[in-house]
Amino acid sequence: MTNRYEAMPHIESRVIPVDPFDLVIFGGTGDLARRKILPGLYRRFIAGQMPRDARIIGAARGDMDSDAYRKMVSDAIAEFGGQTKGSADTLKSFLSRILYVTIDARGEAGWSELQELMKGTGKVEAYYFSVSPALFGDLAERLQQWGMANSDARIVVEKPFGRDLETAKELNATLARYFEEDQIYRIDHYLGKETVQNLMAVRFGNMLFEPLWNAQYVDHIQITVAETVGVGGRGEYYDKSGAMRDMVQNHLMQLLCLIAMEPPARFDPDAVRDEKLKVIRALDPVLPHHIVRGQYEAEAGDENAHPSYREAVGDPRSKTESFVALKTHISNWRWSGTPFYMRTGKRMSARSSEITVVFKETPHSIFGAEAGQHRNVLSIRLQPNEGITLGVTIKEPGPGGMRLIDVPLDMTFSEALGDDAEQVDAYERLIMDVIRGNQTLFMRGDEVEAAWAWTDPIIQGWQTRGEVPKPYDSGSDGTVDSRELMRRDGREWREVAP
Ligand code: BG6
Repeated sequence: MTNRYEAMPHIESRVIPVDPFDLVIFGGTGDLARRKILPGLYRRFIAGQMPRDARIIGAARGDMDSDAYRKMVSDAIAEFGGQTKGSADTLKSFLSRILYVTIDARGEAGWSELQELMKGTGKVEAYYFSVSPALFGDLAERLQQWGMANSDARIVVEKPFGRDLETAKELNATLARYFEEDQIYRIDHYLGKETVQNLMAVRFGNMLFEPLWNAQYVDHIQITVAETVGVGGRGEYYDKSGAMRDMVQNHLMQLLCLIAMEPPARFDPDAVRDEKLKVIRALDPVLPHHIVRGQYEAEAGDENAHPSYREAVGDPRSKTESFVALKTHISNWRWSGTPFYMRTGKRMSARSSEITVVFKETPHSIFGAEAGQHRNVLSIRLQPNEGITLGVTIKEPGPGGMRLIDVPLDMTFSEALGDDAEQVDAYERLIMDVIRGNQTLFMRGDEVEAAWAWTDPIIQGWQTRGEVPKPYDSGSDGTVDSRELMRRDGREWREVAP
């Protein structure tokens, strides 16, 4: 049963233009720039958020001029811009703000040209490191050498931020040589997702949930981030990372923090990040029998079927996981005794990210044993079909006594808010936050290090024990033992459904 909502009256677009800026994208010809950053900036331009004198400067090794780069940007918008449709004039106007510099991160080529472009503009200066992590330190150093690491400049650093605690500390220390913490924007694009921010709105904007949001009333919490894609062309990177480093240490950890943290006093960067950090530091180590991992098998079918994980990464003996499921606890007053279950994987049955809070049963049933046992379940769907469902117990209609059934109070945001609800992609929101100088949705250095401190022993344990991930079928919900992980506790994973 689904509640019907009338589309709400027109939600006024509250687009506030940001200050004039110059954004340099190192790795400006790369995949992320073409798929996300450039189409996202174009959408902000159409929305009227990019001021007239803003400039976007692509910087990469490839030898091309600004015209050739503009053509690449225009092609990227056509290919990855989705519904983004501006008029030909709008596109032309956007492209006129774009420049390109051929640059060598480790050498001297291109830096004086970039320095010349950035000199004395009086605008916000942002440098996006959309390059291999091996170059983060070089870029920071070059920016300083060429006088661009001034106190107003901001750098945006993509993941992966290190591959363990030691390398994350080294990277933090390297960046700190050239930039202050409030100039460093470590991106976790999950924090830019509309519904991920809704987690905070739902928890701290309503009186209803927060009093029940603790171990006394919550039986357990599940976090699932399921993907249907495989490792695709990213095999070389992915096989050195695996789901634990690629997804759990960052995206799932951030979701866990937002769902479990204490209410910050204000919605400001350090207040929010202090609370998230406390959650990570209160996480119990994960016991070996509380975590399972898997690798997807080839899809059954014709020769066009998807290859297995090992075929995709070209290593028949790879021990890297494409799926992980685990149980953890947060040792603090609010959550002591409540298990948090998390799972993520590639090539699963559906693309579905969801957080589910399963409440405890009522302490006593006045309806007798035959009415059965019922629980309220709150599900927050992050993607797709963003929305919230609250399972409520009611009387089954009709005569014949008091039989109880569970029905969903279901709100899909696009239905409730109508077409006027502005869809802003994570990257475009985060880039605008960089220009505004708002770090709330970015990870602080100590947060990243704490997340690695929790992750490292898990990965080291696998290595020491020589554990090999279990196979799971493409298009399934993961390994058999991930279901066992729950069943042992008398619980079930939610169905992975689109
Ligand atoms: C990235 C990971 O950070 O997030 C990818 O490196 C993953 O492996 C992606 O596919 C998922 O992001 P989204 O926004 O599609 O859920």
